[in-house]
Amino acid sequence: MTIDAPEGTTSFEPPRRVLMGPGPSDVHARVLAAMARPTIGHLDPEFVRMMDELKELLRYAFQTKNRVTFPVSGPGSVGMETCFVNLVEPGDKVLVCRNGVFGGRQLENVTRSGGVPVVVDDDWGTPVSPEKVAAALDADADVRIVSFVHGETSTGVRSDAVALAAIAHEHDALVIADTVTTLGGCPVLVDEWQLDAVYSGSQKCLSCTPGLSPVTFGERALEKVRARTTTCQSWFMDLNLVLPYWDGGTRTYHHTAPINPLYGLHEALIMLAEEGLEAAWKRHADNHAALVSGLEAMGLTMLVDPAHRLPQLNTVCVPEGVDDAWVRSEALQRHGLELGNGLGVLAGKVWRIGLMGAASTRQNVTLCLEALATLLAESAAR
Ligand SMILES: Cc1ncc(COP(=O)(O)O)c(C=O)c1O
Repeated sequence: MTIDAPEGTTSFEPPRRVLMGPGPSDVHARVLAAMARPTIGHLDPEFVRMMDELKELLRYAFQTKNRVTFPVSGPGSVGMETCFVNLVEPGDKVLVCRNGVFGGRQLENVTRSGGVPVVVDDDWGTPVSPEKVAAALDADADVRIVSFVHGETSTGVRSDAVALAAIAHEHDALVIADTVTTLGGCPVLVDEWQLDAVYSGSQKCLSCTPGLSPVTFGERALEKVRARTTTCQSWFMDLNLVLPYWDGGTRTYHHTAPINPLYGLHEALIMLAEEGLEAAWKRHADNHAALVSGLEAMGLTMLVDPAHRLPQLNTVCVPEGVDDAWVRSEALQRHGLELGNGLGVLAGKVWRIGLMGAASTRQNVTLCLEALATLLAESAAR
């Protein structure tokens, strides 16, 4: 017996959208064109040459000289796991800073790696408190690692990576930092800030398609990986196994790399280098300022204190009596505009408006402000 092919299925033609949610962001046509180029072998010398350029471009994006800097095959969550499963050995105490969804995911990673978590909680919408982290480390001399999320996409808050890394090092602990939302959109200075293990994502301010996770590991982190007395629980993410593919003179097969997406990331990073990191940070900051002043002029309020706002992810409070889901659905239907919803305790209470990478433009700021003004007026009349 055979199973018939499904009838009436045709090629998928996605609708045109403007992606102003929490990611993915709009992917530039140059990146999409790069991804449509012919697939070659993942050990082809020309591909290996491209991989080496890609690592160099990532070092620029991360502002690091770390040799071990490469894109993990998998979304940001896989980069996150790569950091935790390699650095955390069973029994290791890890201080996790939690002020939103993604700090909670880090905590999951610690427990699943056999680590012993020490959690420092801060309210959603506020940054991680360096004072609380220092007090927790003073109280517990056994903590080996401190992990935090630089830009909490669930709340739109930026925490002080410089202060947190300095406190961790004063207490002889390593730092794992999540820069999924921040890389490319605001300063992430891995070497200057002495971040030991860092992961990011391809689909936010780098404006590539989702599915790749740039990571970088400094010497202190690698020493801890080398000193492990237990085998890394993950075969796929074990740095000892994956690095011979990404690093060194003779490249050996580990897994079949996602070849075309890597062309896309290479192109996206070339575009970032052409613009220049500082210019990209300024563009994100300027568009953020324009969006916030427009929202405030409409009488809307931002969730986060100005000093801690992420320029690439703006959380604005849904006014009393407005149907959050209706506004987002109408924005999508009428304007092709994707806005993000609130998560967890913020569900129904905020919109998350992304201005990330190629989507961080003055035109998108205007589109969003005009759409919200119309929809809020209509919502009041409903
Ligand atoms: C701060 C942060 N960390 C981690 C992730 C997970 O990345 P991904 O969805 O690509 O697995 C996200 C995704 O939105 C994020 O915003």
